[in-house]
Amino acid sequence: MTDTDSDQAAPRDSALAIIREEHRMLRSVMQTLEQVVQELLNHHIDADHALIACMLYYIEDFPERCHHPKEDETLFRLLRERTSRADAVLDELQAQHVRSAQMMAYLQRSFVHYLGGAPDGLRHFADAVESYAAFLGDHMEQEENRVLPLAEKYLQPDDWQAIDTAFRANRDPLGGEQLQREFRKLKQRIANLLPRRLKPH
Ligand SMILES: [Fe+2]
Ligand SMILES: [Fe+2]
Repeated sequence: MTDTDSDQAAPRDSALAIIREEHRMLRSVMQTLEQVVQELLNHHIDADHALIACMLYYIEDFPERCHHPKEDETLFRLLRERTSRADAVLDELQAQHVRSAQMMAYLQRSFVHYLGGAPDGLRHFADAVESYAAFLGDHMEQEENRVLPLAEKYLQPDDWQAIDTAFRANRDPLGGEQLQREFRKLKQRIANLLPRRLKPH
């Protein structure tokens, strides 16, 4: 590999690593939420509503306010400019970004209904958590397996530079480091609130 090749590879590798890392984080929070709800259903733990609210806030804010917009505005947009081969899957995934926000709204509503004592409230909330987790998991898998390989094939060094810059700088569209600090605190709070039996060993 020449120096030029490695210079060009750097923003691409960095952008891909950030996207995969953000997916990994989302999967892990979703998994924890599913686990907590399952434990609640099985009456293994007392209901910790603050913990659930905290995770819902995190999950809603992170994909809706940070992750999906960055994909729409950089990765997907630039890929459409370079090739039409990704159009079908990008159409599908962008529609899923809209659907994701709707499912999240339903998830929050079902949590409020559960708190308000709706009949079968916990069961409905648990179903909504499961549907959203499956939906989001499938969405990210499609991005990783169908979009990223096409991106690696068609995007040019300048594109990767723009994507890397956006994913680094726009980790928070509302104010960079400020929100990253907010998320770090939130993650810490989730970790502290987790019942001991669910904490990672
Ligand atoms: Fe996405
Ligand atoms: Fe994504």
